[in-house]
Amino acid sequence: MYLHGTSTINAQGHLEIGGCDTVDLRNQYETPLYVMDEALIRQRAREYIEAFKKSGLSFQVAYASKAFCTMAMCRLVEEEGLSLDVVSEGELYTALQADFPPERIHFHGNNKTPEELQMAISAQIGCFVVDNFDELHLLNAIAAENKTQVNILLRVTPGVEAHTHEYISTGQTDSKFGFDISNGSAYEAVQLALDKPNLVLLGLHSHIGSQIFEVDGFQVAAERVSAFAVQVKHELGATFRVINLGGGFGIRYTDEDAPLEVSEYITAITDAVKKHFTRVYQTLPEIWVEPGRSLVGDAGTTLYTIGTSKDIPGVRKYVSVDGGMTDNPRPALYDSKYEALLANRALEEAEETVSIAGKCCESGDMLIWDTKLPHVVSGDLLAVACTGAYNYSMASNYNRIRRPAVVFVKDGRSDLVVKRETLPDIVANDLIPQRIQKQPFALERNS
Ligand code: LLP
Repeated sequence: MYLHGTSTINAQGHLEIGGCDTVDLRNQYETPLYVMDEALIRQRAREYIEAFKKSGLSFQVAYASKAFCTMAMCRLVEEEGLSLDVVSEGELYTALQADFPPERIHFHGNNKTPEELQMAISAQIGCFVVDNFDELHLLNAIAAENKTQVNILLRVTPGVEAHTHEYISTGQTDSKFGFDISNGSAYEAVQLALDKPNLVLLGLHSHIGSQIFEVDGFQVAAERVSAFAVQVKHELGATFRVINLGGGFGIRYTDEDAPLEVSEYITAITDAVKKHFTRVYQTLPEIWVEPGRSLVGDAGTTLYTIGTSKDIPGVRKYVSVDGGMTDNPRPALYDSKYEALLANRALEEAEETVSIAGKCCESGDMLIWDTKLPHVVSGDLLAVACTGAYNYSMASNYNRIRRPAVVFVKDGRSDLVVKRETLPDIVANDLIPQRIQKQPFALERNS
């Protein structure tokens, strides 16, 4: 397994993260356990800030909290000087509970409810990323009721879809998100937004995909957005102060992935903006980006205890862990690949090929197919790397399995940031209607 960030193997042959021995972490917190390398999250945040500073452009880096949203994470994000992208009342509430500065919160989503819009207006968040015509009208109306004006970006679809190594130029975009540039919706949205007295149009937003390893998709998006900005300037006399080019910067899950450095993505984006906007704008727009995965993905490691094994001679050996698709649905959902390490015997030779299964009652609940490990026995500790993004945030209680705890580790210290769910938590919201409650007389009759 590739050792990310502060991960290392100590003298006892144990995996150590943030100076904490993972065997000790298991003893203290039990498994499954999400371990987040705080120093690596901070390092990534600083890489973004540094790259932007070098560009000389004004900027905001908004962490896409959907990747991993907890109150402690919101605190880190604020400390590192980033903004925050939220997509629901739950993410917004988490940020507000963590005292995140509301003016640095951006609210995304293709179906924000009136209640969510009201909540965000009351909190005086910094910006709404408006996704469709219904929202334009609704947000303006709610802002008017509140006798206030709100900042907005319009989410546009520039006709670029990017995926890992290639981008597809789609022309007309078939997407549930945003206003299409090519069919004139984006233009109409700008006209409408400029007319709405309670909306302040700051600029445009575009997000082209996730886990992207090349810069060309971002460059094409910047070019198309700038061409649209030129049209708006010429025909409507309006200029945009902000261009948000979204997130999607890729990370290394396995050997097959070859992401660029953060600085390479950002330099390509800022260069493209300079190139395309200089000829039309006297003052270059502020550039915003929204990385999620690349800020937290490789900082996360999940620890599991190995339980049963099933060896099918000539076929395969299944080794089961005490978690699975409930704490990491990505292999089942996207066929995602992960690497693992035997964390309590990390120096031992890998000698057998096994497949790591989860404990859910479903054949699709597999974490890793065919990986080489030392001979594993029940009670061993397994570490799966790169689980910091879209694992905790997409975890479920399928099979009524309790969601794991999350700890931050740094400089030999570990701190619980999310408690493990308890069995009472599992039934906390359950209610039994009176008509099917167990009746005391029935008990007596049976006894
Ligand atoms: N901005 C917008 C508007 C987005 O839709 C997303 C991700 C991001 C930013 C952050 O993208 P990132 O930097 O994390 O790639 N559940 C999937 C990923 C879904 C991404 C959805 N949008 C997964 O586990 O791979």
